[in-house]
Amino acid sequence: MFPKINPTETPAWKALIAHQTKMKTVQMKDLFAQDSKRFEKMSIQFDDILFDYSKNIIIEETLEKLLQLANDCKVKIAMEAMFNGEKINGTEDRAVMHTALRNFSDKPIVIDGEDIMLEVRETRQKMKVFCKKIHSGEWKGYSGKKIKDIVNIGIGGSDLGPVMVTEALKPYWIDGIQAHFISNVDGTQIVETLKDLNPEETLFTIASKTFTTQETMTNAQTARDWFLNSAKDEKFVAKHFVALSTNEKGVKEFGIDPENMFVFWDWVGGRYSLWSSIGLSIALTIGYDNFEQLLKGAESTDHHFKNTDFKENIPVTMALVGLWYTNFFGSETEAIFPYDQYMHRFPAYFQQGNMESNGKHTDRNGHDVNYATGPVVWGEPGTNGQHAFYQLVHQGTHLIPCDFIAPAISHNPIGEHHPILLSNFFAQTEALMNGKTTDEVADELKDSKMDKASIEKLIPFKVFTGNKPTNSFLLKEITPFTLGSLTALYEHKIFVQGVIWNIYSFDQWGVELGKQLAQKVLPQLENNNNVESHDASTNGLINAYKKWRA
Ligand code: F6P
Repeated sequence: MFPKINPTETPAWKALIAHQTKMKTVQMKDLFAQDSKRFEKMSIQFDDILFDYSKNIIIEETLEKLLQLANDCKVKIAMEAMFNGEKINGTEDRAVMHTALRNFSDKPIVIDGEDIMLEVRETRQKMKVFCKKIHSGEWKGYSGKKIKDIVNIGIGGSDLGPVMVTEALKPYWIDGIQAHFISNVDGTQIVETLKDLNPEETLFTIASKTFTTQETMTNAQTARDWFLNSAKDEKFVAKHFVALSTNEKGVKEFGIDPENMFVFWDWVGGRYSLWSSIGLSIALTIGYDNFEQLLKGAESTDHHFKNTDFKENIPVTMALVGLWYTNFFGSETEAIFPYDQYMHRFPAYFQQGNMESNGKHTDRNGHDVNYATGPVVWGEPGTNGQHAFYQLVHQGTHLIPCDFIAPAISHNPIGEHHPILLSNFFAQTEALMNGKTTDEVADELKDSKMDKASIEKLIPFKVFTGNKPTNSFLLKEITPFTLGSLTALYEHKIFVQGVIWNIYSFDQWGVELGKQLAQKVLPQLENNNNVESHDASTNGLINAYKKWRA
């Protein structure tokens, strides 16, 4: 049974509130000075990932209390419910089984009396065969040419996962294949993407779980028109359009042959779907074998998550440490900084992952929560961020826990670039923790040519309070396997936090209202009549738009 416990009513929560009053003045650098084994105690090596969480405002007692909170909130039971296929997505009455998509064991996984692994394996096989045909040139475009360009049309989870992974794994791209992604309904994106492509050599993967999403359907229709403008004959659509969806009826209605449909199932959430047929654009770009390595990396994390004691469990630790700041220090945001250019969409991917999953104010009992839930998640690659917003992270008034991610081995070991990059990666977490005291600043300035009064004036501006928490993820190298592992670690973090916050992490009702209103507004934009049915601001904006367009 999926638990529905208000975390604030647990003994652990109360103990954590009391504990925070003691911890809020503790300096991390003192903790390091007091315990030479702190790094060993507060870091976990898993596969080729080293997770260091020692630069946090925590002591062993904090972790014990946080672990108690996980126990009080029955995280273990919730985890088993998820892996066993219980319908833990309560508001949609669905199981949450993205872990089945990366399960390579031969054990059955049963939902509603059916072994879902049969269809999972069948779909993987279909993807494999299809990739082989495209890469070998056996699958040809309508004029007999080989497919060169893969254009994925999808949005949200049907876009961000494929974009994040294909970008992160660019060194693995198959020779002669280029991937492109169209998500925005803004015509600019499709126009700019298609302008350099040849319809004879282009394959569109229309990725939509529901196959009703307005943006995706609009883009898919425009792509179809663009294609038919050269191909001239509808029968060629079959060679250039495939669908990745759960909605066979919708796919047929759109005019895609169900033969060209790669299915997935309602127990795969959109933002957890890159492991499903939604990943076809990934497999087409990096090759099916690499796609399978990605799945295997995630599978390895699933085993770690399921079978490792919570004390040594990376996703559980990530979740608890994050929650410590959100609920007991009042932190409102969390940042993700990959020190790897290929990983540049990783923060955006987990912005959706976190914010669509845990941006909820209604608990699993249907009541308003009286505590904070999911933080605002954001980030950019280092070192660019250092020259943009790190100022605020170092010296601003908000406490922003940050995750730093970097590979030890670069795919582009040119000159001194990678050591320079990594020196920044190491230096930033140290600087965020240690800060710089008044004495240190004074010491630095004393050899300058400045007079004493000027030095005194400048000192407060150059002081860094430090004690800013960070996690570091040092990966051996960004490979399909390690990326799969890392991605699944973050997914399970979201799950654990959602369980403790007592919210449903796998629905997304919050995106509906805007969509519904847009449906009402659209017909009002199609004539020149003055609009008066909205509030004064919305009426004013719509009418100004119409005036300019008239
Ligand atoms: O933004 C809401 C949402 O439902 C996301 O959860 C999802 O990833 C996205 O829209 C796309 O949905 P679909 O795959 O059904 O087109």
